Amino acid sequence: MTATPSNERLWGGRFTGKTDPLMNLYNDCLSYDKTFYAQDVQGSQAYAKALFKAGLITEYEKNQMVEGLAKVGEEWRTGTFAINPISDEDVHTANERRLGELIGVNISGKLHTGRSRNDQVATDLRMWVRDTLVSTEQYLLTLIRIIVSRASQEIDVILPGYTQSQQAQPIRWSHWLLSYCQLFLSDLQKLRQTRSRVNRCPLGSGALAGNPFEIDREFLAKELGFEAAIPNSMVGVGDRDFVVEVLQWATVLMSHISRWAEDMILYSTAEFHFLTLADAYSTGSSLMPQKKNSDSLELLRGKSGRVFGQMAGFMYTLKGLPSSYNKDLQEDKEPLFDCCSTINNSIQIASGVISTLTIHPENMKAALSASLFVNEIRDYLIRKGLSQSEANDVSRSCYELADSEGLANVSELGLDKLRSVYGEFGEDIAEVFDYERIIEQYSSLGGTARSSVLQQIEEVTRAVQDD
Ligand code: ARG
Repeated sequence: MTATPSNERLWGGRFTGKTDPLMNLYNDCLSYDKTFYAQDVQGSQAYAKALFKAGLITEYEKNQMVEGLAKVGEEWRTGTFAINPISDEDVHTANERRLGELIGVNISGKLHTGRSRNDQVATDLRMWVRDTLVSTEQYLLTLIRIIVSRASQEIDVILPGYTQSQQAQPIRWSHWLLSYCQLFLSDLQKLRQTRSRVNRCPLGSGALAGNPFEIDREFLAKELGFEAAIPNSMVGVGDRDFVVEVLQWATVLMSHISRWAEDMILYSTAEFHFLTLADAYSTGSSLMPQKKNSDSLELLRGKSGRVFGQMAGFMYTLKGLPSSYNKDLQEDKEPLFDCCSTINNSIQIASGVISTLTIHPENMKAALSASLFVNEIRDYLIRKGLSQSEANDVSRSCYELADSEGLANVSELGLDKLRSVYGEFGEDIAEVFDYERIIEQYSSLGGTARSSVLQQIEEVTRAVQDD
């Protein structure tokens, strides 16, 4: 076996001409794929064991490899790994070069037997994604728990509910909170399914055709904590659907966070003043000292565009590639890494924002407009025997009268004035002008009545209980 001198590239043998220095930089991915050095070390340790199991190396050689690789990992961890800019084009070549220096190339050179960087990189990346999504899941669980706990503490708070940015019906603040919580819960459920699809082992797929040395792929999968081995070697090296799936999942999650942030940006304006962000999540303006900006929310909204772009960009890269491995696939890492750190940070910021903001229930209540009672007058009259169109006319006239008298709410008209519009109004009309009562009508499943909201709280709490 020819050993690879440490200052030559792994594939140097076929190439006599010098590489354009810009090409070296263009090809380099160590600056970012070192992110998964630990997974690369783990994958190689498992592969050394599989080589020994297949009788391709001695126990001594296997032990040397496993221990040497642990040292390589330790160097990365402690920041002492010295990169060789000539030979180290990615984390795989860097780790193998360093292993050779530590245990001798005669042994380290056998590590790559039957293996290709094609199955190696797919394995490392799947492990990295799988491991990273564990934190994502925890962050999401925390966010859901925070929202549910606020929803149960603030169940009495009422605010206007909007459709098309127009006041439509009064709702509970908890109902609004839970509407996002439900979306995050479905994100959580999808994340778990995605993670399970990511967690399949390509190692042993070789360059594309498989492994000719009877490597035990099931052993490799088990050793590395995968749920199963990928059943087709070409899929093993060429498939990046798991990257797309994570990017798409993240895009949907960020669109939920973004819409949520948009609601809160509006609610925090002076015009609404339904809530105030904690200082920890807002900044002042350099020019206008009275201004408090909702930067955290605007960034949450803004970063959703960034994640969407990463997803779309990588899908463009993937579209039209011939089967199995192509170097284009190296372009999977930067969007994926950036996306994962963006979502992990975003979920934590969202948790911080929602757990620390102050709500102003009196402003929410004061914002409930007169028009919300007009529907109630109409329904009252229908119950008294008027037709829908008669009742509509009367209730509209009441609204117009209140408006012409400069009253903020139709409920302030008083019985006499109501009777001036329609003589049959009874004393019981006063009971209609009660937001709590209106809200309590919506008691079927999923509605805004207390009992329905409590049911939601119970169900979401149960869904995130044991994790
Ligand atoms: N750095 C490469 C990547 O990320 C590793 C695989 C290289 N394979 C190859 N045949 N050149 O995709």
